[in-house]
Amino acid sequence: MTNIALADRPLNFDVHALRRQFPVLARMVRGKPLAFLDNGASAQRPNAVIDAVDDYERHHHANIHRGVHTLSQEATALYETARDRLVEFINARSRHEIIFVRGTTEAINLVAQSYARPLLKPGDEILITHLEHHANIVPWQMVCEQTGANLVVAPIDSHGEVHEEAVVAGMSPRTRLFACAHVSNALGTVLPIRRLIAAAKARGITTLIDGAQAVPHMPVDMRELDCDFYAFSGHKMFGPTGVGVLYGREQLLERMPPWQGGGEMILAVTFAKTTYNSLPNKFEAGTPNISGGVGFGAAVDFLSRMDRDAAQRHEAALLEHATAALSRIPELRIVGTAGEKASLVSFTVAGVHPHDLGTILDEDGIAIRTGHHCAMPVMDFFKLPATARASFAFYNTFEEIDRLAAGVERARKLFA
Ligand code: ALA
Repeated sequence: MTNIALADRPLNFDVHALRRQFPVLARMVRGKPLAFLDNGASAQRPNAVIDAVDDYERHHHANIHRGVHTLSQEATALYETARDRLVEFINARSRHEIIFVRGTTEAINLVAQSYARPLLKPGDEILITHLEHHANIVPWQMVCEQTGANLVVAPIDSHGEVHEEAVVAGMSPRTRLFACAHVSNALGTVLPIRRLIAAAKARGITTLIDGAQAVPHMPVDMRELDCDFYAFSGHKMFGPTGVGVLYGREQLLERMPPWQGGGEMILAVTFAKTTYNSLPNKFEAGTPNISGGVGFGAAVDFLSRMDRDAAQRHEAALLEHATAALSRIPELRIVGTAGEKASLVSFTVAGVHPHDLGTILDEDGIAIRTGHHCAMPVMDFFKLPATARASFAFYNTFEEIDRLAAGVERARKLFA
């Protein structure tokens, strides 16, 4: 996605027309037009998503899978249609492979507890990388504590890259599962997941990919990637919060016990024995986030209708523009300089705490994230307490990035 010359900026990509579909992008913040550069934390919603949720809430809400009445059937149809859209969107093999969860974090916890916990013996190993978000570290630490397994961490280099050899060196006959991000939320690094998945597969190791930061930026294809599990969140891909997907290979999901009990996941209950529902409901205990699911389906529709190649080229050009503009600022260090990055720049400015930077930029109507980005081991690796992070979506503009650079320069001078 990187290294696209500015001359290659897609001429047919009408970012302003696209922006008009996202109402919040028209608002003012502190008297300035909002420049929303915190998409890695949560992206904004287009009218299509807002309207789908609104229509559901106004006209169709009822509990799903439970009623013979019209509203329940309509709500069920809307929710299950969203699942069908997701099957297509990630090229899964069947709707049995799409488990609705609260988000990426819940998906990873589900796999840790339902897949890994029954399998792990003392001395077994779970392999992750040093780049992971806490959500792809802590569930594995918990299951290691519960089972006596060990967590092994593949290193990164000073650019924030993960090398296949380093990951393979971390694989042993005791490795039961390899989990890694598709795209690092803290640095933007795109990991070579095809090669990593293939290396794991060749050794009989199960794979889980945290796709939360990848799905908003690039098409993902489960049959092509050939991983066992892939997790992502609705709200980072222009849908609602509180809903996400665990994709799992059907044979594995079939073998896994349910994680939570109650509601949707049962077929029959007696005090002597409960029989469980089939996939995907086996993993969907309780009344789900129905309106969230409906909005998620609308977000998938929105993305599917877009020219995603053009969006990807636009984002690559934004990244290149931001990297160049920020690099010209004295005392600014870009953290994470991998050869392949998603449209995200993490940086520090000597003498200015990232939180101060974030506060000063907010005065200019510019939203970025500051802190450890829920990836404290990454911060430790670079010996930093925090960074400032600007994360872009296809609706961002070159002008917003110029404003970011001007705001950072203003902050630097203020603290000089
Ligand atoms: N994981 C989200 C981020 O990177 C919240 O900001």
